[in-house]
Amino acid sequence: MSNVRALFYDAVMIPAGWLGLDRVRRRLVEGLSGRVLEVGVGTGLLPYPPTVSSAVAIDIDSQLLASARLRHPGVTLLQADVQQLPFPDASFDAVVACLVFCTVEDPARGLAELHRVLRPGGQLRLLEHVRSPHPTVACIQDRLTPAWSHLAMGCQLNRDTIPLVEASGFRITHRTQRLRELLEELVAVPV
Ligand SMILES: C[S@@+](CC[C@H](N)C(=O)[O-])C[C@H]1O[C@@H](n2cnc3c(N)ncnc32)[C@H](O)[C@@H]1O
Repeated sequence: MSNVRALFYDAVMIPAGWLGLDRVRRRLVEGLSGRVLEVGVGTGLLPYPPTVSSAVAIDIDSQLLASARLRHPGVTLLQADVQQLPFPDASFDAVVACLVFCTVEDPARGLAELHRVLRPGGQLRLLEHVRSPHPTVACIQDRLTPAWSHLAMGCQLNRDTIPLVEASGFRITHRTQRLRELLEELVAVPV
């Protein structure tokens, strides 16, 4: 079966990787160790460092997952919804998500699930594009979002993810803002 969605996704994201996203992805996973869950794996463009002893990755989209299987042969890949994870409480040392919560229907519910499956002292690593703190830019994001989300698999350009992370029981320990505060790299721990 041809996998049009995965081909389209890679056609956009691989060049974005060459332009700098690959560097940010590598930094996102640097030093991760133990049993790691990646949510929203997509086509598998996030590399896992050798310190990761076991990795499980999920995505809601079976076509993208089929492509991720080719890139991550040693990883357990499952079709699952981050809003209802099929894992016991406290079963991961770390959870990582790259550009995912902009498309999750109920991000607060997804983040609550990540909180549930992370062990105490575990780490959440997130890379997200977010709603701009600058009103003019945020207004442009609001205008563009309806059309953009049709083109980009439901992506909400104007999603205000950081307050949701804090409201879901995480304490942010490291935060780096990039691209004029449109891109956030976070490390957070469950409290
Ligand atoms: C922009 S892509 C990012 C893919 C990958 N993380 C990357 O960096 O290339 C967003 C991904 O989140 C997945 N996704 C959206 N909603 C989801 C949900 N409720 N549960 C699991 N995955 C979801 C999409 O299917 C898609 O693969």
